Amino acid sequence: MISASGWSLRPLAVNEFPARGDSITLTVERMETFRGKHMRLAVRSALVAGLLMTVASPGAFAEDKAEDAVKYRQSLMGIVGDHTQSFFALLQGKVSHPEDLAWHADSLAAASKRVKGAYVQNTAGSGVKTEAKDGIWAAGSEFNKLAGDFETAAAALSAAVKSKDQAAIGAAAKGIGASCKGCHDKFKED
Ligand code: HEC
Repeated sequence: MISASGWSLRPLAVNEFPARGDSITLTVERMETFRGKHMRLAVRSALVAGLLMTVASPGAFAEDKAEDAVKYRQSLMGIVGDHTQSFFALLQGKVSHPEDLAWHADSLAAASKRVKGAYVQNTAGSGVKTEAKDGIWAAGSEFNKLAGDFETAAAALSAAVKSKDQAAIGAAAKGIGASCKGCHDKFKED
């Protein structure tokens, strides 16, 4: 709650967070305090003003601040890395939460579908520290193909886990390792 001289701004509840392109109305409420002889009454008079705010524009891709774009894609890769690491720890029997195996495989498959989109914004020359090589944004870059191979490998891993066929799971896990390496060798600094 932000308030200043009788005005208060209500924080948004989680289910009210706007999506890109949504219009949101900020409701500004005013606390009016009446002081009578025998009573003190606080009346909230609602909806004093509606400030209309548009959250970025939908449709065409909007340029984000390079720093934010890099941080966002690194976070996505971190999620990919964490699910992969946890998956292999379970597969190798280092930890005993077998019930989590399918969750990590499914989450990896879901995250793999976000990779292409996270590398739409060319941040080369922005000066922001990154391990992404500039070749990603060159014409004819293989990046999207490798990202697509990763999606295919992750979907195969998720399907193999559901089949409960150990040989299929092992083969699909190898495929995942190869797809990470295939892209990192070409497009990620060591
Ligand atoms: C299509 C290309 C591509 C694929 C596939 C890919 N990566 Fe990456 N990954 C990158 C690039 C590029 C970066 C560097 C991002 C940056 O620094 O801006 C990166 C960064 C990372 C990071 C560091 C994140 C950070 O905090 O900076 C981890 C961890 C990672 N990848 C794990 C994986 C794993 C595990 C896989 C496979 C399951 C994988 N990646 C598949 C391209 C890829």
